[in-house]
Amino acid sequence: PKSMSTIRMKKMKADGVPISVITAYDYPSAKLAEEAGVDVILVGDSLGNVVQGQQSTLPVTLDEMIYHTKMVTRAVTAPFVVGDMPFMTYHGSLDQTLRNIGRLMREGLCKAVKMEGGAEIAHTVEASVQAGVPVMGHIGLTPQSVYQIGGYRVQGKTNEQARKLLDDAKALEQAGAFAIVLELTTDELSEQITKQLSIPTIGIGAGPHCDGQVLVFHDLLQYASPVFPKKFVKAYANIGDAIRTGIAAYVKDVKTRSFPTQEHAFHADLDMSGPLYG
Ligand code: KIV
Ligand code: NA
Repeated sequence: PKSMSTIRMKKMKADGVPISVITAYDYPSAKLAEEAGVDVILVGDSLGNVVQGQQSTLPVTLDEMIYHTKMVTRAVTAPFVVGDMPFMTYHGSLDQTLRNIGRLMREGLCKAVKMEGGAEIAHTVEASVQAGVPVMGHIGLTPQSVYQIGGYRVQGKTNEQARKLLDDAKALEQAGAFAIVLELTTDELSEQITKQLSIPTIGIGAGPHCDGQVLVFHDLLQYASPVFPKKFVKAYANIGDAIRTGIAAYVKDVKTRSFPTQEHAFHADLDMSGPLYG
C-alpha cells in the first residue's frame, strides 16, 4: 500500500474518509498494526503508563521515546509514524526544543512529532514546521499537565473553556500543525473544532465527529487490565486473557513434565556410559 502522508491526511478530511490511528511502542505491535491496515501509528508517551507501569506520562524521557520510536519505525513502511515529545522537552529555549525534536526525528526516524498544548506553544509549533518537521497538536485533556488540570476530566464543558479550546485549535492550525488530537473534549466542541479547521482532528474520547480516531494499543486490545474502566474505549479483543491462558498452560505443562517431550529434544549418537563421561 501507498505510504501515508500529511497531504493524504488533509485530503482524507476533505473527502470525508476517516483516519485510523493507534499507538504502538515496539516492533511486533507496530508490525501487527501495519498488517491490520492502520493509517497512522503514534508512539505515545502513554508508554509511561501501559509499558513502564508508571502513574503518569511525566517520567518518560526523550531517550526512552527515541528507543521506542526506533523499534516502531523499523517495523513499518506504509503507516505514518508520529513520535510524542515527552514532558518538558519543548518548553525551554527554541534552540533546545529544536535540538530535542531533531534527536527524536533523526534517531527515532519518525515522520512527525506530537506536542501537547494550544496557543501558548504556537510559536514552538511554527518554529518546528519552519525547520521542516510536521507537527501534530494535542489539546483538551493533555496528560502532561494532569496535575495542573487537576485530574483526567472531560474538557470544554463551559463556554469559556470551549471558546479557549476552539481558539487553541485555530492557533495550532495557523502555526502550521498538520493535525490535532482532541482528547476528552465534549462531542459538541469536537464537532465545532472539526468543522472550523481545514486540518484533520483526531479524537480520543472526543465523540464521533472527529476526522480520525486514536486509541491506546493496550486499551483497545485489553492487553493489561486498566486501572479504571474508560467510557470512551471499545475493546476489540482480549489479548490479556489469551496471553494469561497461554502462559498458564505452559506453567502447568512444566509442572506436570508434559513439556518438553521427546519431540522437542535433541539427540547425538554418543556412548555416554563410556570412560570419557565417568
Ligand atoms: O500518548 C498517547 O498515547 C497519546 C494519545 C492518547 C493521543 O498522546
Ligand atoms: Na501522549
